[in-house]
Amino acid sequence: MIDALYRMLNSLGFTDPIHSPLTHIPIGLVIGAFVFFAVALIFKRERLALTARHVSILALIFVFPTIVSGVLDWIHFYHGVFMPAIKVKIVLAALLVVLLVIGVVLGGKAKPRDGWMMVIYAVCVLLVVGLGYYGAGIIYGRDTGAAALSAAASPAAVSAAPRAPTKAADAPTETAATAGDAKAGRRLFADGCEGCHPNGGNVFVSSLPVHGSKRLATLADFVAFIRRPSMPDGSAGNMPAYPASTVSASAAKDLYAYVTTAWK
Ligand code: HEC
Repeated sequence: MIDALYRMLNSLGFTDPIHSPLTHIPIGLVIGAFVFFAVALIFKRERLALTARHVSILALIFVFPTIVSGVLDWIHFYHGVFMPAIKVKIVLAALLVVLLVIGVVLGGKAKPRDGWMMVIYAVCVLLVVGLGYYGAGIIYGRDTGAAALSAAASPAAVSAAPRAPTKAADAPTETAATAGDAKAGRRLFADGCEGCHPNGGNVFVSSLPVHGSKRLATLADFVAFIRRPSMPDGSAGNMPAYPASTVSASAAKDLYAYVTTAWK
């Protein structure tokens, strides 16, 4: 069902996560509540304190679609893997909901001189900032070097697509018979791998990017790896396995053609 939702969005031309645009609504409202209460406190305006409460009610309402879209994106793009940033975000989001509820309940009686109310609104602002910080870290692969890699590699990644098929055509016949279609591989990668491996990096384990990986030594090594991913020491890691039912042998070949020629 989740896939159907994303397929529908894709067919409308929207391929991005849905959480990122939605998240601005509660962020703006939480900041709005804080600003209204701060002004109420400074100028002793009771009506503005009430406005702050009304704005925080809206924030509380819009927090829910934002959380749901975050969970959907997480399942769709990251296969529901519990990376550290996701755990932090779950805790911060739970705290935000609790504080917003407290703020809405107590805010009805709050007077502009109530400093504790200001603290609640201020902590809510800090929580949304933290949520945004960790969310951006996931999307841009912060601390993974993937962001820097992306800046350096994107022109090459763009030109890799038209170049790769030419290369395959130039190759000796026996490789031409086995070589995959890098262009098709690029689409497969964008669909199934890019979320965790933006620009050939690795959002989870920055030291294990796809780009230049030892697992790409031969097609057989690569296929064996995606069928049963593991850490370099052989222990189980976080990458989901891709059995032949999700990535067929020929799709794996296309993927291989792409990951070995992109990001030069
Ligand atoms: C949910 C996140 C996620 C998805 C989706 C994902 N990977 Fe990975 N990938 C990882 C993680 C995490 C590792 C590190 C090893 C581990 O934890 O299993 C990894 C490691 C790798 C490596 C080996 C890097 C090394 O040198 O050890 C390759 C190659 C790779 N992935 C390719 C792919 C391809 C191709 C796809 C799409 C078919 C894909 N990955 C989809 C998370 C993901």
